[in-house]
Formats: sequence, structure tokens, C-alpha cells
Amino acid sequence: MVGLPARGKTFVARKVARYLTWLGHHTRLFNAGDYRRAMLGSMHNHEFFDPNNAEGKMARLAVAQAALDDLFAWLRKDGEVGIYDATNTTRARRDLVIARCIEENVQPLFLEIICDEDSVIEANIRGTKLFSPDYANVAPEEAVRDFHARISHYQSTYEPIGPDDTSYIKYIDKGRQLVINRAGGDIAQSIVRLLMNLRGVRKSVWLTRHGESVYNGLGLLGGDPELSPKGLAFAKRLSRFVKIQGETMRDAVVWTSTLKRTVQTVNELGVEVVTFRELDEINAGLCEAKSYSEIEREMPDEFAARKADKYRYRYPRGESYQDLIRRLQPVVLAFEREARPLLVVGHQAVLRAFYAYLAATPPEQCPHLSIPLHTVIELKPKIYDMAERRIPLD
Ligand code: F6P
Repeated sequence: MVGLPARGKTFVARKVARYLTWLGHHTRLFNAGDYRRAMLGSMHNHEFFDPNNAEGKMARLAVAQAALDDLFAWLRKDGEVGIYDATNTTRARRDLVIARCIEENVQPLFLEIICDEDSVIEANIRGTKLFSPDYANVAPEEAVRDFHARISHYQSTYEPIGPDDTSYIKYIDKGRQLVINRAGGDIAQSIVRLLMNLRGVRKSVWLTRHGESVYNGLGLLGGDPELSPKGLAFAKRLSRFVKIQGETMRDAVVWTSTLKRTVQTVNELGVEVVTFRELDEINAGLCEAKSYSEIEREMPDEFAARKADKYRYRYPRGESYQDLIRRLQPVVLAFEREARPLLVVGHQAVLRAFYAYLAATPPEQCPHLSIPLHTVIELKPKIYDMAERRIPLD
């Protein structure tokens, strides 16, 4: 990462880490601030960051080296993408990173976050930095003043990335502009795709499965059945729930799959609905409209194979959870573009895959997540993560 303090580097770095992890790349973040606090404690005012403070400069270099040592050690072991979340605002510091990459035979890609809008910087300081351990015992206004002084120190030596040979992406003004240079590999392309859609709006999301379907009542997989009487009653309860939740939820846009059971579930809501084919339930191929016990009896090898590796197992002529994650990419990107709160009415497997992205659950665990019928999962934004509440509507 490259960029002045309070430009949203950590926010973007975490989004990138989450997206790549979800896509199956082994990714880890190394935050220089965390290393500084672990190695030197958190009580540093702006003077520590003054480029003319020789002692501070040496200490910061030692911190940078320690984070890089760990990053490369991890890449050597089993890591695929290491994100070095630090300012790296001088050419000298970036040269150090490049030199280490050459030594370790690692491909570097710089991601520079540029944003000069005062209101955004101010919101970043007040919304994230004030909660940092750096300012644990400091009055808010004093902390804001100190942080601005810290930014000025970095500004005095800032050398933005120039049009040279390195691979880089510049993410400007919360994604209003992207500059891409020599970022052609598969992972770089995934990062570009995410950044093209990332607007950085923190919003609430509610997830629920459709109401009980006729197939659910019979214990059968998939198909395109209608809601059962119990499912229709859930649709009514969901509509009441939305009405009593207040502004945020009433302003939400609703996403469903194209299947009857999700569309019928939102019939009563009276709000804007967008249907996504990508949100259709996992395709169980030759096992569609069968029960688990029928599959076990008629296709024991398939049943055993799915049990052994539910994440990678692909139904004959159908999909695996891994396929589902690939298929859901446009939904995740649409989520990152959307500014309004969202209510997503989906299905068991597809919501497991979407939830894994939102809650940063390792993708291999997603086939085993609990997403019960008739339960709304509320995810409210915190600084970098989501706070979860499960609301049973039975
Ligand atoms: O049973 C309901 C259902 O949505 C099926 O259509 C789908 O095949 C299944 O859940 C997915 O859950 P699992 O992956 O645990 O079989």
C-alpha cells in the first residue's frame, strides 16, 4: 500500500484481503501501525513521525523491516498474497520493498490511495483514528490536531508513484478514477475489478432465506417450487418486520434470485426489488428434486464424495460451493457499488457463499455455516468489520 495517513489505506487493504481470500487466494495483511505499537508501544505523538527526528526515523525503519521480514517469511511458508499496509510514501521506502521482492522472487504491485477531499480525510480521522490505541488517553480534539500534524510530516516528504516501470494501481477519490500500470496478472486483475466497484460506503445488510417452500417441507433439494403455507406466513412476518425497523431498512433495496420462492417472499414488501440470476440456489445437477436419503441410497459414491469435501465437490452436471463463489462475483461487486442498505433474500448455499464474503469467513468453511429458514441475519458496519445479530421471525 502507498499513501498519506487517513486516506483509507487500511480500509481498502482489508477489502482487497477479504476479496482475494474469498476467491481462494491465501492472503494476509501486515499493518505497520500494529507492528509499531507491538514493538514500541502506542504513546507516540506527531513528533515521532517528523522526518527530521533521526531517532524516530530509525525506529520506524526497524518497524518496517520487521513487518516485511514477517511478510516474506509467511510468503515463503504457504502465503500467496502478502499486503504490506504502511504509508510507503517515499521512493526510498518503496525501493526497499522492491529490493526485498527481487531477493525473494516475489512480484510487487503498489496500490496508492489518493484522496485530497478534506471532508473524507476528516471523517477518516474521526471515524477510525480516534479509536486507535495511539489516542487511547487523549482528548478527541487534541488527537485530531495531533493527527493532522502527523499527516503534515508525511506530506513534507511524500513522493507519489511516478510513471516508471513498477506495477501499480492508483485508486483516486474513492474510486472515481483508477490509474493502472502493468497490472496484468490474475490476482492484479481481481484487485482491479474490486477497486472499479469499491465506493467505500459503509451500509447495513440483512440476509434471509426465502420462506419455507413446498420442497423444503418434503425435504427435497433445489427446483423452483412455490412457498408452502408456512413460507407465505413468513413472507407476511418479514414485511411487518421491515416496516417496524425504521428508516434504514425501509430505504433498503431488496435483492432476490430469479426463483419463485424468493420472489414470493418479497411480494408483500412494496419496495424496489432487483433480481439476480447469480443469486439462484446451488445447482444440484442430477440430484435436483431428490432428498439427501435418496441420494445416499441411489448414488452412494456421490454422497460420500460430497461428505468428504463439501467445498470442492461438484454435483454431476451441477455446481460446487467453489463454483458458487465464482458465480457470485458480480453480486459482491454490485454490493461494493451500492450506497443504499440492502435486504438480500436468497437460498441456503448461495447465502452461505455471500455471507462468507461479508463476514470474512474462510471460503472452505462456508458449506458448513448455519443459515436457517425464517431468520434474518443483520450485519451492521463497524470500523472495518460487520456486527452481526440473528433475528428469528418464527
Ligand atoms: O434444501 C434447501 C437447499 O437450498 C437446496 O436447494 C440446496 O441444494 C441445499 O439447501 C444446499 O445446502 P447443502 O449444501 O447443505 O446441501
